[in-house]
Amino acid sequence: MTASNGGLDLASIRRDFPVLRREVHDGVPLVYLDNAATSQKPVQVIAEITRYYRDSNANIHRGVHSLSQEATGQYEAARDKVAAFINAPSSSEVIFTKNTSESLNLVAHAWGRAHLKAGDEVVLSEIEHHSNIVPWQILRDERGIVLKFIPMLPDGTLDLAEAKRLITDRTRLLGVTQMSNALGTIVPVHELTALAHEHGALVLIDGAQSVPHMAVDVQELDADFLAFSGHKMLGPTGVGVLWGRMSVLEQMQPFLGGGEMILTVTLDESTWNEIPARFEAGTPNIAGVIAFGAAIDYLGRLGMDRIRAHEIELVDYAMGRIGDIPGITVFGPPNPRQRGGVVSFDLEGVHPHDVGQVLDSRGVAVRTGHHCAQPVMAKLDVPATARASFYIYNTIEEVDALAEAIHEASRFFGNGHA
Ligand SMILES: Cc1ncc(COP(=O)(O)O)c(C=O)c1O
Repeated sequence: MTASNGGLDLASIRRDFPVLRREVHDGVPLVYLDNAATSQKPVQVIAEITRYYRDSNANIHRGVHSLSQEATGQYEAARDKVAAFINAPSSSEVIFTKNTSESLNLVAHAWGRAHLKAGDEVVLSEIEHHSNIVPWQILRDERGIVLKFIPMLPDGTLDLAEAKRLITDRTRLLGVTQMSNALGTIVPVHELTALAHEHGALVLIDGAQSVPHMAVDVQELDADFLAFSGHKMLGPTGVGVLWGRMSVLEQMQPFLGGGEMILTVTLDESTWNEIPARFEAGTPNIAGVIAFGAAIDYLGRLGMDRIRAHEIELVDYAMGRIGDIPGITVFGPPNPRQRGGVVSFDLEGVHPHDVGQVLDSRGVAVRTGHHCAQPVMAKLDVPATARASFYIYNTIEEVDALAEAIHEASRFFGNGHA
C-alpha cells in the first residue's frame, strides 16, 4: 500500500525519537504500539528537560532573583502554549496537575464537594476509564449523589437515545470521554454537551485520548472542563492539565491546601490565591511542564489535522490487514472515522496475555489487560483484550509487523489456521 501518512514526513519524525531505534530480545527491532498508555518522547522534549536543569533550575513564583524569574517565565510560557493549543480564552483557565486522573479528581473534589448534595445526578458513560468513574463513586458514597451511565452499544458506541433519557433537569454534571482508550470509539461530545447544557448541567470531558490525537478547541467544544495528560502527547510523565471555564473555576473550593495556593494565612483561617494558583498547591513539576511546552511546539509544527489523517489511515489499514485472521474479533466501531488510532482485539481461545507475549517476542509492544476499563470488558464479556495503539511515528510497515505477529500467535495456539 502507498501511504500518504496524512502528509507527515515519517522518516524525519522517527529520527527525533531515539527509542524507536531500540531493539529488544537481542536484535529484534522495536515496534512500539502502546501509545494509548504513554507516547515516546522526541529529542526536543528530552533536551528541554536537561536544558532546564542545567541552566534555569529555580523554584517558581516565589523568588525575586533572576533565576527564579526566568524559571517562572518559562513555566508560564508553557501554560500559554497549552492555552493556545486548546484555544482556551485565557491561560488562567489552564491548571497544571500531575495527570488526567488528578484533573478528574480535582473536578470531583473541588467542584463536586462544593455543589453536589444527596439526590443530585451525575451522568457518566459505560466506556469511561476508571479515573472518570472511581472519583464519582467516592463522592456518591460520601454525599449520596446518584450516578447514571450512558450504555455502550455492541459496536462500542454510546446509546445516544438512552443518553437523551438519562440527562434530565436532575443532572448536575455529565462526565464523558471524547475517545475510549479501550476501544478507540470517538464520542460525539458536542451533541452530548448541547444536551447537558439544555438541562443546566455542567460538562466534563476526559480528553486523555483525544487531545493527543486530534484538534480539540475548548471554545468550539463548549464544555466546562477538559482533562488530559502530557505524557500521552510526547511530554514527560507527571504533567496533566485541567482546563476549566473561568466562571465555573471561580465557584470552586481548593483541591489541595499548601504553599502558593493561598493569599493570606493566619492560625485561624486562610484566603485563596487567584486562579490558577489556587489549584496548584506546592512546588509543581517545573521541568516537566516546561518540557511539555516543547512537546506542544512539536505537535503544533506537525499539525493536529495531519496527525488525525495519518492515524485514520493506519487504523483503516490495520482493520483490513487483521480483520480476516482466523478467530479474531476486533472491537469498537467498524468505521475508522468513528475511532481513534486504537485497535483492540481478541483471538478466540487464546488469552490476550499470551497474544501479547508472542507479539513481544517479535518486538511488537501492545497493551494487554482490561485497560482500566473493567466495565467495558464486562459488557464485551471478555476478561481482557490486546490493544495496539498508534501515534505520529508509526508506519504502515509496523502495522504489517503487527498483523504478521498476530497471524503467528493464531498459528502458534492452533486457531484453525494453516
Ligand atoms: C481515557 C483515559 N482517561 C484517563 C486516563 C488516565 O490517565 P493518567 O494515567 O495519565 O492519569 C487514561 C489513561 O490511559 C485514559 O486513556
